[in-house]
Amino acid sequence: MFESKSGVLFIAGLLFFAIAFLSNAVLPALMYQHLEEKTAEQLVNANLRYQFEDLAQRFPESFKEHIGTPPEEEEKAAEWYDEQCADMLRLGRDIYVGEGCWHCHSQFVRPVSNESERFGPVARSEEYQNELQRPVLFGTRRVGPDLSRESGRRSSDWHAVHFFKPTDLSPGSPMPEYPWFFDGDPAKPNRRGLALLTYVQWLGSWLDSYPYYEDYEESAIAQLERRADDEAREAATAGDEPEGEKANEELTDE
Ligand code: HEC
Repeated sequence: MFESKSGVLFIAGLLFFAIAFLSNAVLPALMYQHLEEKTAEQLVNANLRYQFEDLAQRFPESFKEHIGTPPEEEEKAAEWYDEQCADMLRLGRDIYVGEGCWHCHSQFVRPVSNESERFGPVARSEEYQNELQRPVLFGTRRVGPDLSRESGRRSSDWHAVHFFKPTDLSPGSPMPEYPWFFDGDPAKPNRRGLALLTYVQWLGSWLDSYPYYEDYEESAIAQLERRADDEAREAATAGDEPEGEKANEELTDE
């Protein structure tokens, strides 16, 4: 066997396979065996709680109808929010799996290609040691952006409109529309919609750098529009009084 080239390659192949299995499966399993798998209840952190209560403020009627009303007493209300939030996380994860969001979105920031510049901190193994990552939702393709640091990056209003009709916010987007998360209107998410919003606002909420916003840069078009506005206003106030006032009124009406 060792006389032939293919025999040597075959043995080398088997060895490489064994080494890869050791380094990619056995070693990490040994390193992280002491880490307990977190339950959805343990995953409710302050950032997520903020977002969840924010849902109750933004969509008061939908929240009341599909999730409920918190008890009046403050302590009991806090407990109630925590419980509901954990339930919504589980349901949201199920919907994310069921709708196949993972076909187009990864949940894994790789330590290559400066991905951290775009998405935030590189993923760490322990981030996946929880109930909501069974099955693990790394994803295999990125038709859309990575979502593992999505929390706090956009408002829940933005997400609601985007789920209802992605092209309204992102012209040309190939992301499907999800009208069945709503009672006919993006301002009225149903139970499934609220659950998915909770889940998306959870992704990355455990990081120190939360919320992760990109640096705000005004678009060139917005700059031009603002300059035109300023110039119009200047021209209007430079003219005689009555006309100037009229022009100003027109501007504020817009
Ligand atoms: C056919 C592929 C596809 C599917 C399926 C898909 N998306 Fe997307 N998604 C995209 C693309 C492409 C974008 C970027 C353009 C845009 O914003 O619409 C995007 C954008 C997003 C964003 C905005 C990210 C950001 O901050 O810019 C979120 C959140 C999102 N998708 C969540 C979901 C969820 C949740 C599902 C499942 C219910 C889903 N997507 C299903 C392709 C997809």
